[in-house]
Amino acid sequence: MAPYALADQGPAGAISLAQNESAFGPSPMAIAAGQAALAQSGLYPDPEWTGLRAAISEVHGLDAQQILCGAGSMELIGCLIRAFAGPGDEVLGSQYGYLFTKTACQQAGASFVAAPEAGFTLSTDALRDRVTPRTRIVFLCNPGNPTGTRIPNAQIEALRDDLPGDVLLIVDQAYGEFDDQDPASIFALTGRGGTVVLRTLSKAYGLAGARTGWGLFPEAIGASVRKLLNPNNVSAVSQAMAEAAMRDQGHMRATVAGTVEIRARFALQLKAAGYDLPHSHANFVLIPFANADAAQAADTRLRDAGLLMRGMGGYGLSHCLRATIAAPKHMARAAEILATFKEHGHDR
Ligand SMILES: Cc1ncc(COP(=O)(O)O)c(C=O)c1O
Repeated sequence: MAPYALADQGPAGAISLAQNESAFGPSPMAIAAGQAALAQSGLYPDPEWTGLRAAISEVHGLDAQQILCGAGSMELIGCLIRAFAGPGDEVLGSQYGYLFTKTACQQAGASFVAAPEAGFTLSTDALRDRVTPRTRIVFLCNPGNPTGTRIPNAQIEALRDDLPGDVLLIVDQAYGEFDDQDPASIFALTGRGGTVVLRTLSKAYGLAGARTGWGLFPEAIGASVRKLLNPNNVSAVSQAMAEAAMRDQGHMRATVAGTVEIRARFALQLKAAGYDLPHSHANFVLIPFANADAAQAADTRLRDAGLLMRGMGGYGLSHCLRATIAAPKHMARAAEILATFKEHGHDR
């Protein structure tokens, strides 16, 4: 199998707009908590993530017993797929769904089946149509990566109602904090037994480097996943940082508001230049070009200016680049380069 392709880091000093990291970094309280926890590094971390789970449960009004934490939500995705799908089984996802799901399926020997999207937006009808007796898991990401689009939560609830009871539905909300929909009804699906909701501290909380994700699991599913998690999976420093970040909701909200503002300006500049972007509900935007050659030529121009966007060939979208929302000066420079590119007739 091919290894999962992370974004390339480019030369030293390049500005990454490639990994959907936060433009605002972690809460100062998280940094202070991490520094304080360093002194305890001689000890193994809490295998029950007690403080972090308590903070998540208080912030979201959830039962701490239903929460499991992972070394990034990637660890939880990998363990869920290994626990519930194997050779001969199908994992159904969306055409442009998060690519790591495919890698996790390969690791488990399961087949990944993609349902087509309509206008860069996932279609629950297309997912419904592709459920077969071999489908074990339906995986969807809302808001989606790399499209940034989202569907109403009511459509996910209706999909759950129509799926066979023994099919596991995984709702990946890595960008959930950027979505203005109330997540309560999606969290509530986990109370019915066959649905897991995943979240991460890597995006809106600015803690990608601390590798901390969490999920809300029905008890039996959580028990199965737990057997596959690496015990002591989240370091003591990461747990301390994540707990403090979770308790600093003000920083998270300011990050979301600041990101949305920069994103709106960037999208407006690109639209004014003639690009047609899907509306994003996340901390990145997908930029379609006329074709793959134009996308590559634009990427080269951006790279020459020290700006690295993410090529989308792995998603079957080689005519697109994905730009993470970063500091305003970097976005302004990127918008300027892309506007000039278009103006000079290179996007064709
Ligand atoms: C949709 C989606 N899910 C999950 C992840 C994994 O995040 P992490 O492992 O950092 O929690 C990402 C990271 O980019 C993502 O885009």
